[in-house]
Amino acid sequence: MTDQSSDPLVIFTPSGKRGHFPTGTPILTAARQLGVDLDSVCGGRGICSKCQITPSYGEFSKHGVTVRDDALSDWNAVEQRYDDKRGLPKGRRLGCQATVQGDVVIDVPPESQVHRQVVRKAAAARDIIMDPATHLYFVEVDQPDMHEPTGDLERLERALREQWQIDAISADLSLLARLQEVLRKGNWTVTVALHQSHRDETPRLLEIWPGLTEDRIYGLAIDLGSTTIAAHLCDLRNGEVKLSSGVMNPQIRFGEDLMSRVSYAMMNPGGEAEMTQAVRTALNALTDSITTEAEIRPNQILETVFVCNPVMHHLLLGLNPVELGQAPFALVTSEAMSLPARDLDLTAMNPNAQVYLLPCIAGHVGADAAAVTLAEAPDKSEDLVLVVDVGTNAEIQLGNKSRVLACSSPTGPAFEGAQISSGQRAAPGAIERIEINPETKEPRFRVIGSDLWSDEEGFDLAIATTGITGICGSGIIEAVAEMRMAGLLDSRGLIGSAEQTGTPRSVPEGRTHAYLIHDASAEGGPKIMVTQGDIRAIQLAKSALYAGARLLMDEMGVDKVDRVVLAGAFGAHISTKHAMVLGMIPDAPLDKVTSAGNAAGTGARIALCNVGARREIETTVRKITKVETAIEPKFQEHFVNANAIPHATDPFPELAKVVTLPDLDFNTGGGGAGGGRRRRRRG
Ligand code: FES
Repeated sequence: MTDQSSDPLVIFTPSGKRGHFPTGTPILTAARQLGVDLDSVCGGRGICSKCQITPSYGEFSKHGVTVRDDALSDWNAVEQRYDDKRGLPKGRRLGCQATVQGDVVIDVPPESQVHRQVVRKAAAARDIIMDPATHLYFVEVDQPDMHEPTGDLERLERALREQWQIDAISADLSLLARLQEVLRKGNWTVTVALHQSHRDETPRLLEIWPGLTEDRIYGLAIDLGSTTIAAHLCDLRNGEVKLSSGVMNPQIRFGEDLMSRVSYAMMNPGGEAEMTQAVRTALNALTDSITTEAEIRPNQILETVFVCNPVMHHLLLGLNPVELGQAPFALVTSEAMSLPARDLDLTAMNPNAQVYLLPCIAGHVGADAAAVTLAEAPDKSEDLVLVVDVGTNAEIQLGNKSRVLACSSPTGPAFEGAQISSGQRAAPGAIERIEINPETKEPRFRVIGSDLWSDEEGFDLAIATTGITGICGSGIIEAVAEMRMAGLLDSRGLIGSAEQTGTPRSVPEGRTHAYLIHDASAEGGPKIMVTQGDIRAIQLAKSALYAGARLLMDEMGVDKVDRVVLAGAFGAHISTKHAMVLGMIPDAPLDKVTSAGNAAGTGARIALCNVGARREIETTVRKITKVETAIEPKFQEHFVNANAIPHATDPFPELAKVVTLPDLDFNTGGGGAGGGRRRRRRG
């Protein structure tokens, strides 16, 4: 770049960067000098085509330049060869071949940008900017010379130094064993995958290919949950999710929830090793099915990021989780971890693949919560945001730019449809939405697998193959909230009798009552009901969640929050209005309650695609204040008060603006006709 305004002016879009360059300067060189984001794997040799640019010609009054037709050098033989072999889109040039001849405006298309933004479908707190830890470099390596004896690795290092300004690399023995053969096969040219961690370590050689590889390189972002394991296969060049897949966590056979798995490890010598082996085997099977379905080779997976709760974290790493089962809930380490895949016996990917585990926030608040922090960024929020990741354990964060608090609350599996009489996992046939007419007390519902409501024409046909099999987590929340709104359930959580509610759908169940949603028993099908026991299970779960949130609000010294974000796959499906009628979350304007989908999975993808985000989250988690619900006496008080629907003492003024809840008490009046006191009140 020169200061000489007599030299041609090169303007890059969309960055707007500009500078003067002597005639004959390659566009790639100009881009590098200006710090313009223009990709290159071959280092300007005209073989990788990553440096494609689009020159624009004509009058640009905005930039104050006129670009003549001959502003760039002529189309050359290298470009022609590439065009013949692979085809260059019309109007494109190779940035390393086209040189500056006059003032020019150059557009860098998204696919030629290294740090491109990954397009995300759902509205999310932050975008993913590509800046992965692993990159490909093509190098020409000197041949050995008897007069100047040096090893092949030293000459590869020299080539990287001279051609890419990379000082030194470290390489595992397994790669050294292949180096000589690959160098000779590639006729002294190779592509290397180098991993540069965020900790300023020497770049690590992960893979080598003869010549210029056509292979794409991939990473896995894995959300390792207690119930399910979900993995996204991401292209490490552009962040695209090529495939998503999941399996059940086979550790379920050792215990449904986390604490029962910890007790399995306590009661059975070697139990933790069994669970470690079970989850690693499942991860290998999942990776295997992903590579097969995506039609890639295992060696192309060079990075994996895990997010998980502390117990899963320890069991994945082969660490004993028993200390996590009792106060003071000490982790072996809460630090982020980087290690090779082979250390975790992950054999279905490149053995040199680098595994990164996000840091844990505390003994009960894991790397999955850290991933949610990364995705939802409460630490950058102007207003006070409550982020709730609903699962078997709810992980709750409350904060804004100045302070973030976190805790975990044992909600149990009721929100996932477990421990509910007609409960089931979210699968075709499960009731996921329900409405109850407050006048007739008649339900209408929708099941997973069909968009039709049960009272719409064609419903029976639409569900013919799946049937109506049960209620999933989002369905049970809606059912309980609808029952409350329709006057079938009082604020203490008692289901009224047929006499009290005026509907034969209130059926006796021992000494209590149940609400009958669907009865297919005549045809040998199920009777789908919400029983008093179900209501109790939901009350326990929602009280734990609310009490956790309330505890954080106490600690923060506030009585209300500005907005609420529901994270987790489950959070994506629940109706915010119903969640608030139930009193799962503190009162807030309904339009300020949003769902973030699988935020932990998004956080894993961010950490996979952007190495700087790893540094960022490691710093952020240190600043989060952890609140331990298990030893906090106030928690019990909040829990008891939160048992009522929506709440015994806290007002819900925002909810009252949109919903009027009948004020009922089914515990009096002895169940006679019209029994039960009935008043109407707001909220
Ligand atoms: Fe590889 Fe231009 S940099 S083709």
